[in-house]
Amino acid sequence: MAILKIARMGHPVLMQRAREVPDPTDPAVHSLINDMAETMFDAPGIGLAAPQVHIPARIVVFHIPDERCNNIGESIPLTALINPQIKPLCDEIEDGIEGCLSLPEMVGTVPRYKRIFYKAELPDGNTIEREAEGYHARVVQHECDHLDGILYPMRMNDISKLGYSEEMAKAKALEELSSE
Ligand code: NI
Repeated sequence: MAILKIARMGHPVLMQRAREVPDPTDPAVHSLINDMAETMFDAPGIGLAAPQVHIPARIVVFHIPDERCNNIGESIPLTALINPQIKPLCDEIEDGIEGCLSLPEMVGTVPRYKRIFYKAELPDGNTIEREAEGYHARVVQHECDHLDGILYPMRMNDISKLGYSEEMAKAKALEELSSE
């Protein structure tokens, strides 16, 4: 197990299409997944894609902790998806705030499909097929975008909603104070 270095926006590995993984049961794939999970929990983050640790392969890891469910949907334990594919299940788009370990300290408002279907290979060689909505759907869309060289600012409609989370938290606190 090792904590890997995370590539930041501007590094070419984040801007390319990642390669398919020919054998999800390959021990080298398992070892990479373990390192990605350790790196994600250390950061800490909700998800991590292999290009973010300088490996252009179609692998993502994520988890949805209890406190991020907002009582809708279930928490999801650590999950690794290999060669994932996503299909929107509706036309409905929802704005939500996202951050990314490759853009440290920043957040932005990003439109995402509200409900998706996704399919992927698992490290044990099985296939997972799942429907997801809300935060779960958002996380999977964000992570899978990394495999196609897309970072969340590239999905934003209004770039004025991108900023440093610390500044935005301060601005929000001031706004709430003045509205009291
Ligand atoms: Ni990200």
